[in-house]
Amino acid sequence: MEVWFVIVVSLCISALVSSFFNLFKKNLPPGPSSLPLIGNLIWLRHPISELEFILRRLKTRYGPLMTMTIGSRKLIFVGSHSLAHRALIQHGSIFSDRPSPSATSKVLKRPRIVINTTPYGPTWRLLRRNLTHEILHPARVKSYSRSRQWVLSVLTSRLVDASKSESCVTLIGHFQYAMFCLLALMCFGEKLNETQIKEIESSQRGFLLSLRRFEVLHLWPRLGKILFRNRWKELLQVRLEEERVLIPLIRSRIQAKQQRICNHQEDDEAVRAYVDTLVDLQLPQENRKLADSDMVGLCSEFLNAGTDTTSTALQWIMANLVKYPHIQAKLYEEIVSAVGSPKGSQREMIEEEDAQKIPYLKAVVLEALRRHPPAHFLLPHRVTEDIELDGYVIPREATVNFMVADMGLDPKVWEDPMEFNPERFLPTSPGEAFDITGSREIKMMPFGAGRRICPGLTLALVHLEYFVANLIWNFEWIPVEGDEVDLTEKQEFTTVMKNPLRARITPRI
Ligand code: HEM
Ligand SMILES: *[C@@H]1O[C@H](CO)[C@@H](O)[C@H](O)[C@H]1NC(C)=O
Ligand SMILES: *[C@@H]1O[C@H](CO)[C@@H](O)[C@H](O)[C@H]1NC(C)=O
Repeated sequence: MEVWFVIVVSLCISALVSSFFNLFKKNLPPGPSSLPLIGNLIWLRHPISELEFILRRLKTRYGPLMTMTIGSRKLIFVGSHSLAHRALIQHGSIFSDRPSPSATSKVLKRPRIVINTTPYGPTWRLLRRNLTHEILHPARVKSYSRSRQWVLSVLTSRLVDASKSESCVTLIGHFQYAMFCLLALMCFGEKLNETQIKEIESSQRGFLLSLRRFEVLHLWPRLGKILFRNRWKELLQVRLEEERVLIPLIRSRIQAKQQRICNHQEDDEAVRAYVDTLVDLQLPQENRKLADSDMVGLCSEFLNAGTDTTSTALQWIMANLVKYPHIQAKLYEEIVSAVGSPKGSQREMIEEEDAQKIPYLKAVVLEALRRHPPAHFLLPHRVTEDIELDGYVIPREATVNFMVADMGLDPKVWEDPMEFNPERFLPTSPGEAFDITGSREIKMMPFGAGRRICPGLTLALVHLEYFVANLIWNFEWIPVEGDEVDLTEKQEFTTVMKNPLRARITPRI
């Protein structure tokens, strides 16, 4: 037999055999073609900031489950409600891990523990359960109502002062300041003065905004340490500054608590601070207590998770109320019919129990979280084993990203998705409420869904409803003439307004 004949036949057979096996071999979700090492050429042509826009375009071509290759890493993107529900709720135990902490934190001398990067396991469970039960549980959230009243009075008087000295007020700074006062009080159990708050704020914002600049260090930590010496120094500087600001606050809270125990004073339950719950924690895997650096990590996570997201959301809500005066007017009427007019009222502010009773208020908040979610993606998830989704296989240890903003704008689920229309969230029958946890069905997920869902969800909603209700009850918000409210987005740590909201605010009395 001719040699060439043998070769052709064996090639044919092997092709047949491999295509036969391919029928059964499950594939990665589709995506743009990639080169080994370099990854998708797309990343070479576009900066990462355009990621979201590109993903939307790719979604129309490849469908709602896609693979992107960056370097040697495979990233999976999930862009549909039903697939997100299947992943996060139905296969929750497989989809709840996180990618291993960035390599920089391994090279740093003192690694820190934070909940959001801790792998799915006993340490994560302990830290998260402690935070949820001790601080973020609905009953506990109620116990901070005095703190909220204090912060509201701080915010109101700042707004009154600002509206006296300038005809239009830029709001985001005031919102951020207020949220730092509140979260710092919950974290350290102390009402801090302006100097202290400003110091925390600048150290935390320095930390958040620098995250991007340090990305290059995360890609090649050891090499980066040599090549980007200055940036590396800067990273250490940011962390030192954080410790300089936070450690004294943590220590003074711990001392005050010990003092009370020595004097046999009752612990004041009403002012349970996050630091109190960290002192006696015992890490299950390392079998040790938390070090100072861990406490700084956890407190910093608590402050950041609770301030930036909430003040961003508050700004988006108020921007829509300024832009659409008829919605603001309707909200004001609904508030007045629930608690009365501010003129001649006995009360100085609206309590959160009252805010709870105003369906239109809840609807405004939810609509803003749909239309402008502060986080356009969830934090990256990682799967712990090979798992089939929609006929494709997501390989073990792949990183999975969820397209939050895209889901809120899906015309298959939301009528006129670009419209700001709170009415869509009004209950059609009494007692009915929108399920934002998505446990039965996901229509949007500004807080995520499943086991890694934002544990601060209840607190965040209480904060937003409480501040919006009081800000609208106390002030009329008027657009600045010749300066239309611009809803263009910009990616910072969260997705913020590119042109921060400015408005004229006049006290109603
Ligand atoms: C409007 C306000 C907020 C929004 C939109 C928001 C959104 C989110 C999102 C999208 C995640 C990621 C979920 C995932 O990866 O699956 C998350 C995680 C987290 N959030 Fe929030 N959040 C808000 C407020 C808060 C507050 C007030 C706190 C606490 C003080 C908080 C604490 C956390 C923590 C600790 C995690 C990590 C959870 C984990 O990995 O297990 N958040 N949040
Ligand atoms: C703020 O509080 C700190 C610590 O209690 C104190 O040292 C500082 O003088 C205070 N600053 C102002 C402006 O009151
Ligand atoms: C949280 O930790 C404290 C120790 O700091 C412990 O006493 C408490 O029982 C824990 N709470 C929960 C709900 O695990």
